[in-house]
Amino acid sequence: MNTLDQRTALQQAARERIKDSHALNGDAGRLAHFYRGWASSYELDVGLDGYCGPMIVAELAGAVQTAYLARQRTAIAILDAGCGTGLLGVQLERLGFHSIDGFDLSEDMAEKARQTRVYRHVRGDVDLNGPLSDYSSASYDITVCCGVFTLGHVRPEGLRELARVTRPNGFIIASTRKSYVETTSFEAEVRRLQDAGTLVPAQRLNDGRYVAEEGAHYWVFQVPEKASRVCTGEPIAA
Ligand SMILES: C[S@@+](CC[C@H](N)C(=O)[O-])C[C@H]1O[C@@H](n2cnc3c(N)ncnc32)[C@H](O)[C@@H]1O
Repeated sequence: MNTLDQRTALQQAARERIKDSHALNGDAGRLAHFYRGWASSYELDVGLDGYCGPMIVAELAGAVQTAYLARQRTAIAILDAGCGTGLLGVQLERLGFHSIDGFDLSEDMAEKARQTRVYRHVRGDVDLNGPLSDYSSASYDITVCCGVFTLGHVRPEGLRELARVTRPNGFIIASTRKSYVETTSFEAEVRRLQDAGTLVPAQRLNDGRYVAEEGAHYWVFQVPEKASRVCTGEPIAA
């Protein structure tokens, strides 16, 4: 087998693993088991598939901070939800963000993220399909989430918890694979949260580059002043 054939075979194997990860039906046990086996070769596989989601989400975070957040970039508190091995944290750190926390369902992926040393704290065994009970409301200036609103991973309802942990006037930046938006209730959930005043869609990059075989939408949501008070149970001023 020549070098080109070898690369093609590796790319095909990587795509198969990525496809297999989409068939886990949001089952926490199966997801954790799958990522335990994938943690050591995840970055190689997604690199072979041209994965550029983390770079795009990080650059959006940089643009949002420059445009809307007065404090210095180093002081902006960021939560990387579903941080995986830390690809997004590394991009954020490259852009000058230094107060980054992360969590992931998979302890093995989370341990890889810790090893990057770009995060303040990384938790494993945190499931975004349920309440983020270890995270206080209104804690983060920007919450980022890349590669997680993906088939078989996190349900659209997870967005509500991301809004809860983000401070008033803060931002959530998330990627969604096109196939995820087409086959789930993600857009309906966005409308529900918008109608409830929980978040406001601020920007959307449609069908941007993501992996070789499929694009993604990149969403920027803002958490309004009053919404987080509702979430935290504080009274809303008339
Ligand atoms: C495709 S990887 C993306 C990782 C990283 N954000 C990146 O861009 O490289 C998906 C990650 O989501 C995590 N994950 C899947 N389901 C999850 C859930 N319910 N709660 C938290 N993390 C989850 C997986 O363990 C995995 O690390």
